[in-house]
Amino acid sequence: MPEHTSRLKGFYKLHLAERRKKLASWAALDEGESQALEGGISIADADTLVENVVGLYNLPFAIAPNFIINKQEMLVPLVIEEPSVVAAMSNAARLVRAGGGFQTSSTEPVMTGQIQLLDVPCLDAAVNRIKALKEELLAELGHLHPTIKRLGGGPLDLEVRKIEDTLAGPMLVVHLLMDTRDAMGANAINTVCEALSPELEAITEGRALLRILSNLSDHRRARAQCRIPFGVLSGDESEGADVAQGIFEANAFAVADPYRAATHNKGIFNGIDAVALATGQDWRAIEAGAHAYAARDGQYRSLTEWMVEGEELVGVLELPLAVGTVGGMTKHHPTARTALKILGNPNARTLSEIMTAAGLAQNLAALRALVSEGIQRGHMSLHQRRQQAGRDH
Ligand code: MEV
Repeated sequence: MPEHTSRLKGFYKLHLAERRKKLASWAALDEGESQALEGGISIADADTLVENVVGLYNLPFAIAPNFIINKQEMLVPLVIEEPSVVAAMSNAARLVRAGGGFQTSSTEPVMTGQIQLLDVPCLDAAVNRIKALKEELLAELGHLHPTIKRLGGGPLDLEVRKIEDTLAGPMLVVHLLMDTRDAMGANAINTVCEALSPELEAITEGRALLRILSNLSDHRRARAQCRIPFGVLSGDESEGADVAQGIFEANAFAVADPYRAATHNKGIFNGIDAVALATGQDWRAIEAGAHAYAARDGQYRSLTEWMVEGEELVGVLELPLAVGTVGGMTKHHPTARTALKILGNPNARTLSEIMTAAGLAQNLAALRALVSEGIQRGHMSLHQRRQQAGRDH
């Protein structure tokens, strides 16, 4: 049996039809699953998803080969319109292969919901009463989501925060932590927050206003790490050690400066959002949470760390990632289902780890280009290819 490798040499040189054939055989896609890469949802289905539908909107669906994540060979599906991102990411994954691939991990899929309580007569007394009744309250909520409970999830904890200085006066905010397993969990957590609020009003003698998830899902984080030997980092005009040192210095710039951090993190989201779109995730939720996380100490900073260790460059990316592999678009969108199949039908935690590896790869590619030949060379060669393609048609 041939080796099941994601190192698809020359994949980019194949004709479109050959690429599709190769992918179908690699990921064991059946006719319908392959076909889903052309179709997407029907306009009739679109009409049931959102309001005032008048059409559909397509984007390119591409594959980044070369990934190894936790020793598993992977092809990463990407939906993106920006030239060079796919090539850059494939190239970065090839460099990371030389160091053994990405190592990833994640926390349990715990979402946070918020209940805002106003007009609470005594914040401290209310905090104590909620803490005293916590176990009882959590036990009452357990039945609300039988599916999530059956799968091993459910409400886990209540945290109480006093926010004393706001434009609308002091507030009490209760955080509900809930394990939503393979669901992104927005609906589940909103339902439970709404169900909990009358009781919190009674306990605190206050008035509940907002009852909604927080997109800063910092209990639900994914982490990816990679080690790249200097040897594979060298370019036409640069030594590997210099490239590694340059990447460390470029990252230090993004840690220190929000203007650079915004661009640096944008590059990370070239990778993460492209997988999010391909697999039917709520990428606005992902972006909102990650940017808030990037500013968690009061200053907006880079989401990555890059270090030089011995003869290797080491990169780490950690961020909140609330993704789902059941329900939502993963249920309705045939292309998203095919994308998940290409990834081996991962659970939500594994998908968040794959997305983090894609983000780290994209950041590596951008920094490597920026500290060596500059970003325009790659962009220009693609631009020239496009012009050539235009002439050939
Ligand atoms: C372009 O889409 C992304 C970059 O600007 C990221 C970066 O500067 O790190 C190249």
